[in-house]
Amino acid sequence: MKKAFKVIGIGLGSLVLLVAAFCGYVLIVGIPTYDPPATPTITVEITPARVDRGEAIAHLQCMACHANNENRLTGKYMDDIPAMFGKIYSKNITQDPEKGIGKWSDGDIIYFLRTGVRPDGTFAAIMPKYALMADEDIKSVVAWLRSDRFPVQPSTEEAPEVEYSFVSKLLAHTMIKPVAYPTQPILMPDTADQVAFGKYTANAVADCYACHSADLIQQDKLNPERSKGFYGGGIEMPGKDGKPVFTANLTFDDQTGIANKYTKEQFIRVVKLGVRPDGTILRYPMEPRPSMSDSELGAIYEYLKTVPKIHNDIAQKYAKVQEKQLASK
Ligand code: HEC
Ligand code: HEC
Repeated sequence: MKKAFKVIGIGLGSLVLLVAAFCGYVLIVGIPTYDPPATPTITVEITPARVDRGEAIAHLQCMACHANNENRLTGKYMDDIPAMFGKIYSKNITQDPEKGIGKWSDGDIIYFLRTGVRPDGTFAAIMPKYALMADEDIKSVVAWLRSDRFPVQPSTEEAPEVEYSFVSKLLAHTMIKPVAYPTQPILMPDTADQVAFGKYTANAVADCYACHSADLIQQDKLNPERSKGFYGGGIEMPGKDGKPVFTANLTFDDQTGIANKYTKEQFIRVVKLGVRPDGTILRYPMEPRPSMSDSELGAIYEYLKTVPKIHNDIAQKYAKVQEKQLASK
């Protein structure tokens, strides 16, 4: 018996040493760097339709993270990101050649948006990767970045460098890796097929599942359906008043989802304007999305009907928080 314990002891001891060595390695290496990629040779034609579409996508994505108080994409401190990930600042992505991305080629931008890897091989761990966005939509984003619209005009303002925490570094060595650049063209969905159009809009463009699933990290960007608790909600987020806000269960579960809570019209209204049928207002970080069309949101509603139902009672989570607060008083 004693010998067995000794063997286990030595085994555990070596494991601890291994883990310690890995942590040391992570601290020294920081966020991993990759070989500078051979980015695709693409020249995006800038058309008014693309600029408009790119702007609509930017309102769902880029603006919230990159725009300063004057609505310029200078980068800023991201106070929403939990401190455990470090001090995260987004970047200047205006057309300025030095401080912004004025010198990046169209291919550099597209490669980065899909994979997270910059032309020099450095990796953006926090910035979302747009792996499933259709080629045409990605081109629209590029067209908008190159356009004469106000937010993208050159600015020399610069946000400080990101200070990644140990947790971020560890994740960048384990769970958050560059996403593979697609080998096949990604086509726009058939907008007449409501479920396909809704699925594309929710998962590939608006990233609704990123917040409305069970975990911020255990997500599969190439196969969103495999993300933990897909559309079952329940992620705790810091609200504006410091009180926790839980993301909603958007599956069609009868009791805890939206099946009996929202008609299609009410759903369109709550996402667009942030007002529930009973007049209550959705709290931050669920911001209204006025740039989304009724047809996009109606299609998302049809798509959500097809997502496997998850029984997850969000009201109960609030009840627990309240119980804890009462107990600590
Ligand atoms: C959730 C917040 C978030 C969203 C949404 C977001 N970004 Fe970023 N972006 C960041 C952060 C943070 C960085 C800094 C690197 C990192 O991830 O650590 C960054 C870096 C970048 C860079 C690299 C710039 C450089 O000089 O290194 C580009 C280009 C970029 N973003 C473009 C975009 C575009 C275009 C969109 C919209 C399609 C977008 N981002 C949406 C947070 C975001
Ligand atoms: C940044 C994270 C985030 C993203 C992205 C997000 N949501 Fe939300 N959503 C939330 C949070 C948090 C709540 C809960 C707000 C509250 O309780 O006041 C919420 C609430 C909702 C509600 C109300 C549900 C209810 O039970 O009353 C609907 C509907 C909704 N979101 C739909 C969407 C759709 C559709 C998308 C994509 C277009 C989306 N959300 C993207 C965080 C997010």
